[in-house]
Amino acid sequence: MPPVRVVSLEHVAAILKAIDLEDVLVSQAKAFHAYSAKVTQTPNRITLGTPAHSTLIMPSRIDTLTSAIKIVSVPKTDSKNGLPGVTLVLDNETAEPRGLVNARLLTAVRTAAGSALATRAIFNNNNSLMKAGDSLTLVVFGAGAQAKSHVQLLLHVLPQIRKVVICNRTLPRAQELVKDLGSQSQYAGVEIVAFCISTGESTGPISSSQISGQQPKEQLKHIVQIADVICTCTNSREALFPGEWETGQDSILAELGQIFDEHGQLSHAALPPEFITVTKSDVTPTDVNRKDVTIFKSVGIAAQDVAITALVLDKAEEMNLGAVVDF
Ligand SMILES: NC(=O)c1ccc[n+]([C@@H]2O[C@H](COP(=O)([O-])OP(=O)(O)OC[C@H]3O[C@@H](n4cnc5c(N)ncnc54)[C@H](OP(=O)(O)O)[C@@H]3O)[C@@H](O)[C@H]2O)c1
Repeated sequence: MPPVRVVSLEHVAAILKAIDLEDVLVSQAKAFHAYSAKVTQTPNRITLGTPAHSTLIMPSRIDTLTSAIKIVSVPKTDSKNGLPGVTLVLDNETAEPRGLVNARLLTAVRTAAGSALATRAIFNNNNSLMKAGDSLTLVVFGAGAQAKSHVQLLLHVLPQIRKVVICNRTLPRAQELVKDLGSQSQYAGVEIVAFCISTGESTGPISSSQISGQQPKEQLKHIVQIADVICTCTNSREALFPGEWETGQDSILAELGQIFDEHGQLSHAALPPEFITVTKSDVTPTDVNRKDVTIFKSVGIAAQDVAITALVLDKAEEMNLGAVVDF
């Protein structure tokens, strides 16, 4: 049997640093295209319950690429350690195991790539969103793995973003993220500020308007109103801001986080309820009355996992990273 390549978290992180983000976006666009062309297979996922986690087992196949099985354990309580996960990739010809890749960072990257592709498509298709010389403001709720990937991929697809406001319920994690992003040379021209939703503290000026002396809620309202793109990347089951705050400046919202509870019922989502329409078989967060706000529900599909893991495995081979194990 041919050897199997085992790619650790550390090596996935090194590959993500070296990889061209455009290659990530192309891999994800191809996964969405394959899904639309009905050349993917994704059986229902299997869930195993443990006292502390729900372990999700998710097989999927892109006929034109390969098959993979991702296993992710979602903690039942808040965890600062992200989601433990691994993906087994099979060889497309022989169906033998080809690689075992740490999935912890990749889920965030593939989900953010979906949001970024949608945002780029929306901007490309709507001239009123972007005028020459405009600079854009991105507002991200949350400061975890998803928030970081969303900032990175949104800055890649929309280089017109000159300001990023990270709104988190606690300040230290948002500060850490600002420091981390600020240390990366490619973001040198972007002003990145942390804002604490509960106390109103921030690490820098939010806008030219004097809002720092105002109540946290008033400051947050101002932040929502200056945003061109908002990404809600939290575990919140309650609306993060009231819908009427969005005053119609042609903005885009990308939302992730839980929308169904474990029984498949619609649960409280992070977006204001007036942005969400329930259709027969799905929850489609579109705005029926508000033509000025476009919403992309960034759930992610299993085919994206197949594509991102195959890409990372190819790159690991190219860079000779990971342990090659006789099987
Ligand atoms: N759709 C998908 O494909 C997909 C994929 C992966 C993850 N997700 C979902 O995306 C969300 C974020 O994931 P992540 O990996 O970034 O998580 P994470 O690293 O644990 O970060 C969670 C963030 O949400 C904030 N938060 C938690 N509970 C909150 C609440 N009740 N109100 C306001 N903020 C709250 C936390 O704030 P503090 O720093 O103050 O704790 C933190 O900034 C999760 O719901 C996750 O399940 C979705």
